[in-house]
Amino acid sequence: MSVTKTLFDTMPDGAPVHLFTIENDNGVTAGIITRGATLQSFCCPDKDGKNGDIIMGFDTVAGHMASGTYTGNIIGQYANRLCGGKFSVNGKEYQVTQNEKGKTCLHGGGEFNSAIWNAIIIDDDAVEFTYRSPDGKEGFPGNLDVTVTYVLTQRNELEIHYKAVTDTDTVINMTNHAYFNLGGAENGNVLDTELMLNCDYFTPTDADSIPTGELRSVKGTAFDFTEGKKIGRDIDADDEQLIMCRGYDHNFCVNGEAGKLRLVAKAKDEKSGRKLEVMSDLPGVQLYTGNFLDGTETGKGGVKLQQHYGFCLETQYYPDTPNHPDFPQCTFKKGEKFESLTIFKV
Ligand code: GLA
Repeated sequence: MSVTKTLFDTMPDGAPVHLFTIENDNGVTAGIITRGATLQSFCCPDKDGKNGDIIMGFDTVAGHMASGTYTGNIIGQYANRLCGGKFSVNGKEYQVTQNEKGKTCLHGGGEFNSAIWNAIIIDDDAVEFTYRSPDGKEGFPGNLDVTVTYVLTQRNELEIHYKAVTDTDTVINMTNHAYFNLGGAENGNVLDTELMLNCDYFTPTDADSIPTGELRSVKGTAFDFTEGKKIGRDIDADDEQLIMCRGYDHNFCVNGEAGKLRLVAKAKDEKSGRKLEVMSDLPGVQLYTGNFLDGTETGKGGVKLQQHYGFCLETQYYPDTPNHPDFPQCTFKKGEKFESLTIFKV
């Protein structure tokens, strides 16, 4: 096991952005950069032993900054959407940044993913990233001290440990927004990737991608991944939810008890033979199939990022949770510890 620290790139003002690379004894590596505590790369062998990077992304900070993809970023203070950018805590209404169509708040207004995080190597397999989100930033209450620790194990598990403490009651929802392409950057789209989701229900949305509040059974719909199927099998089905979003961009309710680590998803790419398993203690997972990529952004190795060139499995509290009292809640009290774990295993 080893961790190395190198200079990845610089910010426009010249500030350094460092890259931490954790390597295990199987030659699997995870690279994380300090801008957005971003998972920059995750390399593992294919069926012929050839190492390849399964994270869609960018070679430079400028690439990340110009992009609307959030690829590999840590997202917060509230991952996914808040209707009207509004929510209440203890009866007090807060208005946060409406960075999507001037209506919804998407991904916390882009706060955590564009911050430069402090980072230290805490072991030969682990790097700890910290960030203080000041009270009122993007409109969110509370000084929030956030710690995200990436650990790569000898079992090829990349663990992402999330911790946060607030000094004011507030909402917290964090995720990692990696886009996976198990065949690597040159692979093209991910429609042939087999995906199994351990999810019997999903949360349909309105036209602004805000959950209607319904938990809909996936049975007999294009949203049924319980038995495993190719991502592309039903993506063009005549289903208003898919048509509206140009593919999957939905929160699925993970089976089993939230708060306990359990299987979320399994993916497999036949061609490369690479596999991915996702585990988490969070209640939901957003399956996003890169629907809005349109070739205008150039990713790693000069590849134009086209529609469906990656898939995201963003473990999370359900979108817009504070406005749906029936959803598992994510309001945390002053001094209370937020803790969560998501694992990507290759
Ligand atoms: C999430 C959202 C999508 C999209 C991506 C980033 O997955 O649900 O609608 O905004 O982030 O492009």
